[in-house]
Amino acid sequence: MRIFSGIRPTGEIHIGNYLGAIKNWIPLQENNECIFCIVDLHAITTPYSPKELEKNIMKLAIVYLVAGLDPEKCIFFVQSQIKEHTELTWLLNTIAPVGELTRMTQYKEKSKQFKKNINAGLLDYPVLMAADILIYQTDIVPVGKDQQQHVELSRTLARHFNQRFGKTFKMPRVLLPKMGAKIMSLQNPRKKMSKTDDPKGCIELFAKPTEIRKKIMAAVTDPGRKIKYNLIKKPGISNLLTIYSLFSEKSIKELERDFKDQGYEKFKKSLIKLLINSLEPFRRKRKELLSREVYIKEILHKGARKARIIAQSTMQDVRKKMGLI
Ligand code: AMP
Ligand code: TRP
Repeated sequence: MRIFSGIRPTGEIHIGNYLGAIKNWIPLQENNECIFCIVDLHAITTPYSPKELEKNIMKLAIVYLVAGLDPEKCIFFVQSQIKEHTELTWLLNTIAPVGELTRMTQYKEKSKQFKKNINAGLLDYPVLMAADILIYQTDIVPVGKDQQQHVELSRTLARHFNQRFGKTFKMPRVLLPKMGAKIMSLQNPRKKMSKTDDPKGCIELFAKPTEIRKKIMAAVTDPGRKIKYNLIKKPGISNLLTIYSLFSEKSIKELERDFKDQGYEKFKKSLIKLLINSLEPFRRKRKELLSREVYIKEILHKGARKARIIAQSTMQDVRKKMGLI
């Protein structure tokens, strides 16, 4: 199977990105052809600083490596290094219904959040994402729940294109994790964890032990004192249980049993310990990689060279089908 996914280099990666996306990519590398992208062209649709973007691209490459992506087993690269992504975006634009784009949840949210910068790129974001996916003839797209709608749009565009110009693209399917597809904010368990929306409700992958302690102790809980998974009545504790379960690989049932009659404070303290121990290896490996910029750039260039071959081959077919000489 061909797998494709990506993350925007917008700053620190948090445990929502890790549990919802990257962690699930690791095992896929073993038996599939995996392509993972640093999607810098998506990152520039919201306000950003060019200097920071450059740094954030390198930071995200380090995250990919410390989380366990193996450049020998998968391809990873920077989106803007392959011009075919933007070329295919333009071509797909000519079949993308504007009405559907304006109805995308992320577009509606982002245009509310950045009222002064509702640029055309924000609206076109899912078409670029469809180009990313379709250009590699992707079978499976492992992402968090918030991206499901965009993957569905890429299926719609593939279908329209194939109907109009003849079979060209494979139909990609979304792959959501059974648990952790939507990690919630620690401050508001009804909203997804997001660095830009709410830094206090978000634990970064490289968070220091003191930050972890502070944020978990301050995490919103629910009335009562029972450690019980119930999304409606106990969204706060349910979110913490999900995080606990994914890092400890213990089931929610087991955790409910372990923490029966223990109260919130004991549970939180145990979660803090677990998080500090689980995130420590990431921080350690990051330290080793911080001084290896040349090595990391080489991995990205090598990845781009491999990805480009596939992208160019699809584009040749697309151009021919569309009557472009
Ligand atoms: P982004 O940072 O928006 O580029 O997201 C990168 C990946 O992380 C995508 O697959 C998202 O679906 C996933 N993701 C982002 N936030 C969360 C969250 N709070 N819970 C689970 N997955 C998330
Ligand atoms: N839009 C995705 C996000 O915000 C990132 C992304 C861009 C992506 N292109 C992709 C994810 C292609 C999967 C496949 O998370």
